[in-house]
Amino acid sequence: TIRQRVDSVMQLMTLEEKIGQMNQYNGDWEATGPITKEGDKQDQIRRGRLGSMLNVTGVEHTRQLQGIAMSSRLKIPLLFGQDIIHGYRTTFPIPLGEAASWDLEAIRGASRVAAREVAAAGVHWTFAPMVDIARDPRWGRVMEGAGEDPYLGSCIARARVQGFQGRQLGDIDAVMACAKHYAGYGAAIGGRDYNSVDMSLRTLWEVYLPPFRAAAEAGAATFMSSFNDLNGIPATGNAYLLRDILKGQWKFNGFVVSDWGAVGEMINHGYAKDNKQAALEAATAGCDMDMESRSYINNLATLVREGKIKIELIDDAVRRILTKKFELGLFDDPYRFCNSQRAAEQWNNTENLKTAQEMAEKSIVLLKNDNQLLPLSGQTKTIALIGPLIKSGRENLGFWSYQWPDDSERIVSPWAGIQKKAGSTTRLLYAKGCGITDTSRAGFAEAIEAARQADVVIMNVGEAPDFTGEAKSRSNIHLPGIQEDLVRAIRETGKPLIVLISAGRPLVFNYTADHADAILYTWWLGTEAGNAIANVLFGGYNPSGKLPISFPRTEGQIPIYYNHFSTGRPARNDSDVNYVSAYIDLPNDPRYPFGYGLSYTRFVYSDITLSAPSFQPGGTLTATVTVTNAGSFDGRETVQWYIRDLVGSVVRPVKELKGFEQVDLKAGESKKVTLTVDVDKLRFYNDKLQHIYEPGEFRLFVGGNSRDTKEIGFTLK
Ligand code: IFM
Repeated sequence: TIRQRVDSVMQLMTLEEKIGQMNQYNGDWEATGPITKEGDKQDQIRRGRLGSMLNVTGVEHTRQLQGIAMSSRLKIPLLFGQDIIHGYRTTFPIPLGEAASWDLEAIRGASRVAAREVAAAGVHWTFAPMVDIARDPRWGRVMEGAGEDPYLGSCIARARVQGFQGRQLGDIDAVMACAKHYAGYGAAIGGRDYNSVDMSLRTLWEVYLPPFRAAAEAGAATFMSSFNDLNGIPATGNAYLLRDILKGQWKFNGFVVSDWGAVGEMINHGYAKDNKQAALEAATAGCDMDMESRSYINNLATLVREGKIKIELIDDAVRRILTKKFELGLFDDPYRFCNSQRAAEQWNNTENLKTAQEMAEKSIVLLKNDNQLLPLSGQTKTIALIGPLIKSGRENLGFWSYQWPDDSERIVSPWAGIQKKAGSTTRLLYAKGCGITDTSRAGFAEAIEAARQADVVIMNVGEAPDFTGEAKSRSNIHLPGIQEDLVRAIRETGKPLIVLISAGRPLVFNYTADHADAILYTWWLGTEAGNAIANVLFGGYNPSGKLPISFPRTEGQIPIYYNHFSTGRPARNDSDVNYVSAYIDLPNDPRYPFGYGLSYTRFVYSDITLSAPSFQPGGTLTATVTVTNAGSFDGRETVQWYIRDLVGSVVRPVKELKGFEQVDLKAGESKKVTLTVDVDKLRFYNDKLQHIYEPGEFRLFVGGNSRDTKEIGFTLK
């Protein structure tokens, strides 16, 4: 068995070799400090002082370094890890964009392709999925997760883990997943990356932990501890998170890697006085592998010899790491993931690109479509294509996409996609208008002239792709520069106006929201961005995306999320501001609510019916609604079910997503959609952190978003 094989290796290992397995170095580039020199690194591999590397990819390079590991005394293979966040070569939409599809099969499929591609290039391990709940769009890493909701976030976490890990570790197209960043990272105060996190344990359990639990239950091979402190204890040295919850209550049997340098960063936190104490705190808390801080390699042996760390603790960490190396099959063939032929087959692979286009189409969210301006007819005579991103190429890949060769023309710009899709009689005009952060209006006149000559205008505005991602927090999330002025100038021509907004986070764009005829939120859609956008514009795909995160009216509303509590003085409507919980200068509700997204067709919901008005623990209740496609296009609707517990021993959110189902409906067609309610759907964490349900009255809501719903009451006896 693997257990016996691990034990047999461990019997041969010196203490230094064991600690070497807990050590991970970066490969080729420098991010936050001097990296170990290539020569030193190779020497350390040879001496069995290194268990894993990150940011080393490619058949040749991984083969070369693995070869050095094979010349070490015990020939323990290296693990190669990398941030394969939304594709390796074939790049999919950013994870927040994919989440907008609510299509778990498609999301699983996208991760599958990413795994297959990178597993051919020598990599065994992706540092994904990021399953942090994010209620603050100022935080740059909001792009990397699944948005604000624990239920949707858990479903997507599961799908991504299954996608990356495939049928089982050991298959040649499976890589280890890593659920990150454990935990609370998305709740950084002020949306500022790496900042402290202070939250009640109830909120931690209710909102932030569920996707991690789902990832663990789906078999995620590894977890990454987060940079932040959680209620005063850095996550890297947080025994409550790592030992009690993850390895204890959840019985996680994979291993935990720190985030980059985070073991050593406990000194900056003021939690450890030096690297030695940092190593002691992190290893004791349950962090098995030190990414790039060198605290373990330099101090753990001494700490063991001084009796401050028991050898059993080291053995447990090493056993966890070696077990994964065995499961991956690396002891049988350390080079099995380095395969030039498989790597070549994955490059520019038509099937993968098709999957990427489909995923991109499903990720697009239609926010507005006045007078059914969209879809465009192939007969449109002249279209003006305007804006700083309309000819964007590489930008469409978004953050965490560094494996695409710089000179590649394979990335499809919106311009190229539209050019291909528009009818041969359609004339396309182009004007940039302004750059993303420009302050000069010098290009406005040309753009206005192009608009005047056109029958319809398509603008592509948005953020720069490196405005979101790690260390990319922004205090101002308005559409940058003078882009809204450009929208206004074009609007004033009176021409029908479609605006594509590309971004890695919810942006604020109130003028556009009020005045454009149609708006498509296109995130960063990846390699096939332009083809997907064009297919949606011309009706080849009827948009079905739904926002996985609330869009604020302005930054002052942040944090804003649909599943908030009721207060003692709830506002009844927008003008109700007197001594109620409201802003005197702004409505409480978001610009676009969680779950929102239009279609070219119109879906009508009938009243909900219940199998019974009440049920008892152990029993169930079935709710049914009929959804009708009342428009003239075939389309897909995501039917969303929410529940509110009216009175509880702790206050409960005004609505919580408890289920969703995607239905494809032909024009005129109706389908019945059901939700089965049992007590598990009604559970919550009480003030003692028990996961309980309580008898009483509930409201059940159904609709195409979290705001516009039908509702009915039921009782749990
Ligand atoms: O995986 C990432 C993590 O999300 C942020 N810091 C660096 C790690 C490795 O690249």
